[in-house]
Amino acid sequence: MEIDRKTFLDSLGGPEAVSRMDSEARADALESHMMSQLNQSKGGNPSDPQKETGKYPSVAEVEEQIETRKYREGVGFLYVPRTGENVRRLPPMPASPTLLDFFKFRFMDTSNHVLQSANLATKNGMTEEIILVCLLHDVVQEIIRTDHGWWGAQLFEPYIPERVAFAIRYHQALRYYPDPSVGYEYPDMYRQLFGADYVPPPYIQATYQMVRKHPWYMDARHVTVNDLYAFDPEAVVSIEPFIDIIGRHFRQPKEGLGNDGSPVAHMWRTIARPDQPL
Ligand SMILES: [Fe+2]
Ligand SMILES: [Fe+2]
Repeated sequence: MEIDRKTFLDSLGGPEAVSRMDSEARADALESHMMSQLNQSKGGNPSDPQKETGKYPSVAEVEEQIETRKYREGVGFLYVPRTGENVRRLPPMPASPTLLDFFKFRFMDTSNHVLQSANLATKNGMTEEIILVCLLHDVVQEIIRTDHGWWGAQLFEPYIPERVAFAIRYHQALRYYPDPSVGYEYPDMYRQLFGADYVPPPYIQATYQMVRKHPWYMDARHVTVNDLYAFDPEAVVSIEPFIDIIGRHFRQPKEGLGNDGSPVAHMWRTIARPDQPL
């Protein structure tokens, strides 16, 4: 999908604001913007970033802009809509909610993106486990966006194979690093939007070095391959084709997500009841 650079930068508080975000925050902001465009698109005609001119902001210019926003970038879409509109009352959840119920009633801002990613993984002949990773990899951004790979893996860990959790956790770091063996190049879009000179923070660099040598590296890598090009504003993908895969690889607790006493049950309740004050 094409990104209107000016619209994107304005949505983040302008070029100066973007200049003061660290690389991870900027990548996440881009992903957020793409999700938002995907959800709101009416088939518009955004400009080609390659045709845009302008000076990239410096990293040193970023931090002052934090105080120009009404929210912090790390907060999830379910909690702070980026449209500036009031939040809406949410439909009640079933007594024993399943993963599908969360897709239907709570993953409003992230579901289209992850469904498209899972759809692309299917077309690319990925295994069922990789398709599942793609289906789950960003939905935690409904509650929190900072370090969404780690948060996302934690949210799902009790219910999925260890390798699937590994891939969710580490896709976050791999986005910055090309792997020509699978056709993943550092995205031009990142150069356009984040500046050509940015360097991921040390913990991302260290994570990449660890994952690169790990036997499961390719599991996480496949997410990045099936992620970046998954933003088609015209496409609407149903969860229907993935229901069997979820059934085979996701251990749905019979009490319902949030009611099962698992170490992450509170995270599911937090998604289910975001209007609960305490
Ligand atoms: Fe992601
Ligand atoms: Fe993604």
